[in-house]
Amino acid sequence: MKTIVYPGSFNPITNGHTDLITRALKVFDQVIVAIGTSLQKDPKTALAERIALCEEVLASHGDRVVVEGFNGLLVNYVRGRDTMFILRGIRTVTDFDYESQMVQMNQSLDPEIEYVFMPSAHEHSFVSSTLVREIAQMGGDVGNFVHPAVKAALANGTAG
Ligand code: PNS
Repeated sequence: MKTIVYPGSFNPITNGHTDLITRALKVFDQVIVAIGTSLQKDPKTALAERIALCEEVLASHGDRVVVEGFNGLLVNYVRGRDTMFILRGIRTVTDFDYESQMVQMNQSLDPEIEYVFMPSAHEHSFVSSTLVREIAQMGGDVGNFVHPAVKAALANGTAG
């Protein structure tokens, strides 16, 4: 079985993330959504809440999508899985610059790691968790960018 790890903060999961996962399942048998913590971003929403929301949003994929949380370095987490593939979505040139640095850093920590970049679909290329959080906090409608469960969680303060 070919598995790929899709790491991210998922704070919250957006339609851009779910689209990427659906498309990755055309190539891989299983996607492990690995919810980590970036020291730079330091999400306010607890890991357990982000995991629960991702599980709800991705439930229709059954056991082809597994959601897990991890602490610490991504390379250490991936070493414990039955794959060395990491999936990341690319929206813009800025994403590519940032991701290239992450690839090189992670590959220098573990040369076995291989990255797969997928371009985001054009209708999601401007969607980011950061903007979704900001719009929701200021009372805007995020219904076009996230699953209804995420919209509800943002509204009741259990996401974002
Ligand atoms: O969705 P994001 O915020 O772009 O995801 C970033 C994430 C969680 C993938 C990244 O911060 C990460 O890998 N965190 C784990 C800690 C780590 O390995 N840091 C070194 C990166 S070179």
